Amino acid sequence: MHAAISRLAGLAAAALTLAAGVGALPKVSRQGRYLYSDDGTRFLIKGIAYQEQGAVVADPNSPFSEPSTFIDPLTDSAACARDLPFLQQLGVNAVRIYSVNSSLNHDDCMNAFSQAGIYTIIDLALPTNGSIDRNNPSWTVNLLNQYIGTIDAFNKYDNVLAYNVGNEVITAPAGTGAAAFIKAAARDVRSYLNSISSSALVGYAAQDGDDSWVIPLANYLGCDNSNSNSGSTAIDIFGLNNYEFCGDATASAYNGKNGDFAGYELPAYFSEFGCVSQPPRLWTEVPIIFSAPMSDIWSGAVAFSYFPAVASDGSFGMVTVDGSTVTTSDDFDRLKAQYSNLTFPTTPSKTDAGSSAFPACPSQNSTWLASNTLPPTPNDAACNCLENIVSCQFTPKTSNDSAIVGSLLDLGCSLLGQQGGNCDDISANGTTGTYGRVAFCDPETKLSFVMSEFYEITDRAATSCDFGGNATVNANAPSNVNGANAAATSCLANPSATFTPSAPSGSSGSGSSGSSGSSGSGSSGTNNNGAAAIFGASPSTFVGLGVAFVFSVLGSALTLA
Ligand SMILES: *[C@@H]1O[C@H](CO)[C@@H](O)[C@H](O)[C@H]1NC(C)=O
Ligand SMILES: *[C@@H]1O[C@H](CO)[C@@H](O)[C@H](O)[C@H]1NC(C)=O
Ligand SMILES: *[C@@H]1O[C@H](CO)[C@@H](O)[C@H](O)[C@H]1NC(C)=O
Ligand SMILES: *[C@@H]1O[C@H](CO)[C@@H](O)[C@H](O)[C@H]1NC(C)=O
Ligand SMILES: *[C@@H]1O[C@H](CO)[C@@H](O)[C@H](O)[C@H]1NC(C)=O
Ligand SMILES: *[C@@H]1O[C@H](CO)[C@@H](O)[C@H](O)[C@H]1NC(C)=O
Ligand SMILES: *[C@@H]1O[C@H](CO)[C@@H](O)[C@H](O)[C@H]1NC(C)=O
Repeated sequence: MHAAISRLAGLAAAALTLAAGVGALPKVSRQGRYLYSDDGTRFLIKGIAYQEQGAVVADPNSPFSEPSTFIDPLTDSAACARDLPFLQQLGVNAVRIYSVNSSLNHDDCMNAFSQAGIYTIIDLALPTNGSIDRNNPSWTVNLLNQYIGTIDAFNKYDNVLAYNVGNEVITAPAGTGAAAFIKAAARDVRSYLNSISSSALVGYAAQDGDDSWVIPLANYLGCDNSNSNSGSTAIDIFGLNNYEFCGDATASAYNGKNGDFAGYELPAYFSEFGCVSQPPRLWTEVPIIFSAPMSDIWSGAVAFSYFPAVASDGSFGMVTVDGSTVTTSDDFDRLKAQYSNLTFPTTPSKTDAGSSAFPACPSQNSTWLASNTLPPTPNDAACNCLENIVSCQFTPKTSNDSAIVGSLLDLGCSLLGQQGGNCDDISANGTTGTYGRVAFCDPETKLSFVMSEFYEITDRAATSCDFGGNATVNANAPSNVNGANAAATSCLANPSATFTPSAPSGSSGSGSSGSSGSSGSGSSGTNNNGAAAIFGASPSTFVGLGVAFVFSVLGSALTLA
């Protein structure tokens, strides 16, 4: 709504370089339930979501209309240089980014943000198949490798505050079994980060919702299921996407959430905030969140969102961009006034923060369905081994064939069921805590395994290894391994093992050329919503902006005849 301010990206970049000259950003780590910089100063996240909204495809099965595409905002040097002065006006110390492309170069944006004292919170999930599918959750080698690929691409930067292993995967009590897979992802990512000496925090960003599942979710993701006060399966920081403060509400708006989290052992913050109902958003909750008593419970908040994002309840966004021009809004000015007037609390001091502890793992009940038996660490080598020695292989004809894996799996399991077989080996259930020995493999390997089982159960009839031309008898199957079962036994000697994963062979860390000028169209995912359900707005009127988790390749349920 304000006058457009045009800047030449080059000038902005030059100004930036001059303003910089500082050393590496201090490491931020957990002590007790708080965050501290290296020098012992308490750290609170004063952040903003920074990613353009991806293409949202209307889908009746996707209540939040999550985006199906994204544009990585950290690859566009000119756009980062264009936006940085505005981020600096806001006074943020962190930006949250929902999806990045690990094969691209992020040096310019990451370095510019670092020099400006801005940390990044990087979500590891990608739209469509690059996330834990809330409707059919699993924790698989392809996802693990994607997560590791992103970590490898960002590990060289000093300003990654946290990696999120998921955003709003769980949206209702019935879906809480998926938490077992989120927790396994946190465990394996923590283990990988330790192995490369990264101190980045591991986080999860939760959709807000009813206490009956949000509280156990926070406890579950932070709990130690070995009962030895170990954080080896725990996240380091819990994010809550909270939109409950609207208009000129008072501090009491947060009484419920404050009570819920008052005794929480881990650092927690609002991984998104800002009212979802119609503007104006006054941002008068900012001084409330960042001072006692809330700052004794929460470690800051991330405002949603720098770029425009559309929901049916209204629009979010602080600025509009047109090429190199940024136009700020009243929303921007009000947030800026609040953010720039903040003085961070300094208490408790690091020495008073106590040692880090972990909550007890919640028991299962009708609103909390996750088992305390976690899925194993996905084993890339074992799945490659299996794919190579099964008797009948999925043989995709084009690079696009991952789109048909889901329906072929349904078909394979159905056919197998008709022969008295089943798909237990490829199935995972976070509620019963039962994980088939092939369940952590990528969808294509699972499919080859199921095709082989069907081929063998029908006495290797040639017509059984066909699947409409999508399968081929494996001429290289070793003659001394007879059958899918034996193949699995041979390759998956210890299928329930937990171990430190390593980077997949052939992964390369960061990539090629940086940047380009315009900030393109399209773009990223983001978030969320839930707020409608919480605050009484009709859920049907709210279209979340959601990112990342839904529709995996295993899109449809495994239907056994
Ligand atoms: C990452 O960028 C490369 C090069 O533009 C592109 O081919 C690839 O599809 C992108 N990956 C994702 C997950 O978007
Ligand atoms: C998602 O699908 C694309 C296209 O088939 C594929 O390249 C990518 O590896 C898949 N990602 C995961 C995590 O499976
Ligand atoms: C299930 O347990 C959680 C605590 O872990 C509790 O908050 C919730 O209310 C319980 N649900 C029911 C239906 O009792
Ligand atoms: C700035 O913060 C102080 C408290 O730290 C408060 O008294 C003052 O009203 C705030 N100013 C504005 C413009 O909000
Ligand atoms: C890839 O598969 C999807 C889903 O089957 C289809 O909609 C799309 O047109 C395919 N793209 C290409 C290039 O074949
Ligand atoms: C997991 O097991 C429970 C209990 O048997 C069942 O109700 C649920 O449908 C199963 N979930 C999946 C995804 O198979
Ligand atoms: C492969 O599977 C897909 C999905 O079931 C099917 O549409 C197609 O006809 C099959 N055959 C070939 C040759 O693609």
